[in-house]
Amino acid sequence: MGRHVVEAASAAGHEVVVLSRANGADVLTGVGLAERVRGADAVIDVANTTTLSAAKARAFFETATRNLLDAEARGGVGHHVALSIVGIDGIDASYYAGKLAQERAVAAGGVPFTIARAGQFHEFAGQLLSGMSGPVAVMPKLLMRPVAAREVGAHLVRVAEAGAVGRARDLVGPRDEVLADVARRQSAFDGTRRHVLEVRLPGAYGRGLASGSLRGGSDALQGEITFDEWLRGEDHLRG
Ligand SMILES: NC(=O)c1ccc[n+]([C@@H]2O[C@H](COP(=O)([O-])OP(=O)(O)OC[C@H]3O[C@@H](n4cnc5c(N)ncnc54)[C@H](OP(=O)(O)O)[C@@H]3O)[C@@H](O)[C@H]2O)c1
Repeated sequence: MGRHVVEAASAAGHEVVVLSRANGADVLTGVGLAERVRGADAVIDVANTTTLSAAKARAFFETATRNLLDAEARGGVGHHVALSIVGIDGIDASYYAGKLAQERAVAAGGVPFTIARAGQFHEFAGQLLSGMSGPVAVMPKLLMRPVAAREVGAHLVRVAEAGAVGRARDLVGPRDEVLADVARRQSAFDGTRRHVLEVRLPGAYGRGLASGSLRGGSDALQGEITFDEWLRGEDHLRG
């Protein structure tokens, strides 16, 4: 997501400062944040950790948010934009527990803010597929309305430009999809010949994924690029 935000912000004529460990800034230790955010009009937080542990996810997103907001408050930043996920309200478990904790920390943090929620990215199935080895890939039953990360990046820049409103309209993609189906289509298109197995995960997290709530409501903004268009498009082909 960071790459798409940088591209969209640069294309809109903004001066962009990148915060990532690869660039010497760490949202967990706070190293390199203050000097980079000082005087910025807005900070767009798309940092991420990959975990299914609720405790680890909460620790990451709460610490990252606290460190960013501290640096922003000291540096006179007037708008914090946090990217979150559509439809997670009833799923205070696993990774989503971290995203809900992030939203609470942002809202309580004292810097004017906008929480912008998006649906799963078209890139999501590929992220999961590349994290599994062997001929069989196991996917949770997940009903979603995926959206191109490129469109989310452009949306986040528009949200940042518009000023703090607390909560932006949700952004989802143009079509309902099922994670295992898109993973099969991607695997066939990429020629990786993986057998994709769908499993229903237990507990609140599994029920939430399978419930359809992650597809969002009828009032959400909709991206235009379908999963199959994205699969054949430059963003996927260049990797
Ligand atoms: N994937 C989805 O389908 C989806 C859907 C909706 C919303 N989201 C949200 O979108 C955001 C981005 O997701 P993504 O899939 O683009 O994540 P990603 O590919 O895992 O990228 C994570 C980014 O965070 C940076 N990062 C990690 N730890 C850091 C640290 N300690 N300090 C500074 N930077 C750090 C990484 O850069 P370095 O390694 O260089 O530090 C990397 O640029 C997340 O908030 C996620 O919840 C994702």
